Amino acid sequence: MTLSRPRISKAVIPAAGLGTRFLPATKATPKEMLPVVDKPAIQYVVEEAVAAGLSDVLMITGRNKRPLEDHFDRNYELEEALRRKGDESRLARVQESSDLATMHYVRQGDPRGLGHAVLCAAPHVGDEPFAVLLGDDLIDSRDPLLSRMVDIQNQHGGSVIALMEVDPEQIHLYGCAAVKPTDTEDVVEVTGLVEKPDAAEAPSNYAVIGRYVLDPAVFDVLRETPPGRGGEIQLTDALQALAAAPGLGGPVHGVVFTGRRYDTGDRGDYLRAIVRLACEREDLGPDFRAWLRRYVTEEM
Ligand code: UTP
Repeated sequence: MTLSRPRISKAVIPAAGLGTRFLPATKATPKEMLPVVDKPAIQYVVEEAVAAGLSDVLMITGRNKRPLEDHFDRNYELEEALRRKGDESRLARVQESSDLATMHYVRQGDPRGLGHAVLCAAPHVGDEPFAVLLGDDLIDSRDPLLSRMVDIQNQHGGSVIALMEVDPEQIHLYGCAAVKPTDTEDVVEVTGLVEKPDAAEAPSNYAVIGRYVLDPAVFDVLRETPPGRGGEIQLTDALQALAAAPGLGGPVHGVVFTGRRYDTGDRGDYLRAIVRLACEREDLGPDFRAWLRRYVTEEM
């Protein structure tokens, strides 16, 4: 039975990480601004939040992250130049990002980990459930995940995380969940979480991916969470505390995602995202696919 709970309206996007896997490109440019075809990766993430009904977006930023704020702001000079040229379609593309959502920003100061980044959202979020979308995780818009998570949170209360089955050899790259099945095929109950376990110690091959719907009790837990793996305050550790004590902030459920997802902070995945999205674009796809086919068959 679905209880009547207030609908979630706020999205938090942590984007204060250093992006070391993408150096030197990310020395002076945030990794979230790297283009995926012709839009920065972060715009896809904000569009996803808006598509799930969350139009109040708080971005957690840091030093070198000003371009993120500029991208979601108006650029009157550019708009005026395009207007003078009569270039209406590019003008619309430029205005799209500034009209998307109500954007707010807070700086993390020192990047002390994802858990610490989420804690920076506490004053803005207040005492209501909220969503977290990692700024470098891209979910294909045809495979809606966040709206499903919002529905599940509405049904069960508590927190909901996104899980994806991965090759057991890859689990050491992710947070990993111990789970119990529920009556709903794509939903599991999360009984424990561990950050980046060795394959031999992993409780499952369910990897945590970058979408969360969290009960505000997570803030109190994060305030008490000591630095964990890598000396960082880990969101996974706080979620483990919530899963172990449902009295704190309700149960933790997982939605098992089987759609298309790219970690744009990883160079290989970033390239795959661009090729796939370019192939599927109506304007660029036909020419690009023909070229790619020739390249693969004749030149590789
Ligand atoms: P990552 O683990 O991808 O870290 O963070 P990173 O520093 O950005 O990238 P690499 O590993 O050095 O290449 C996952 C998410 O958490 C955010 C990042 O911006 C990313 O969206 N994050 C991480 C913060 O906002 N603050 C932090 O202190 C750490």
